[in-house]
Amino acid sequence: MTSPFTLLFASNNRHKAEEINSILGEQFQIITLAEAGIVIDIPEPHDTIAANAAEKSSVIYQLTGKNCFGEDTGLEVEALGGAPGVKSARFAGEKATALDNMTKLQELMKGQKNRKARFVTVISLRLNGEHHLFSGMCSGTLAEVPAGKDGFGYDPLFIPDGSKQSFAEMSMDEKNKFSHRKKAVQAMITFLQQVEKK
Ligand code: IMP
Repeated sequence: MTSPFTLLFASNNRHKAEEINSILGEQFQIITLAEAGIVIDIPEPHDTIAANAAEKSSVIYQLTGKNCFGEDTGLEVEALGGAPGVKSARFAGEKATALDNMTKLQELMKGQKNRKARFVTVISLRLNGEHHLFSGMCSGTLAEVPAGKDGFGYDPLFIPDGSKQSFAEMSMDEKNKFSHRKKAVQAMITFLQQVEKK
């Protein structure tokens, strides 16, 4: 049996790492920053999700020289002109918790009829010094009240199209049937499989 292809994941978010691990299968494996003994808080200074994803992979590639990828995700709400978008992590302030962010979003959406929203994920892969981008999107609606205990971030408020449950009411496998992250990771996997064949 050949050993799995390994990539460093430029993130401290254990929820994201768990989700990505549940998608990868045996052919690929990720090493988190914690597992690699790297203690760093990578900033998200840019105006776009793609640029922030690229920042994460660039910082870790420059530090280690190893194949790695960064991931950035935003929740875009139609009635809010695409906000919080690239500012999703800091929507309610620099040190905001997921609950702070959800509470702010609920307040802004009170009485709002158009509840359409979408998650967008961009992955930035540094492979043998080359840069590749992959993206995934999931459209849905925002619930009036949060529901469910699983997942993370805005999951209790987000109901993907095609389901009646919020992401936080789903198992990881169920979330993966709809998720933005699953689509972006799958695009990266397909690309890596093609590269491996060459
Ligand atoms: P970042 O990609 O780590 O900057 O995350 C942006 C914000 O979106 C953070 O508040 C995350 O908790 C939230 N977030 C990222 N991915 C998801 C998801 O899959 N579901 C719900 N919230 C998410």
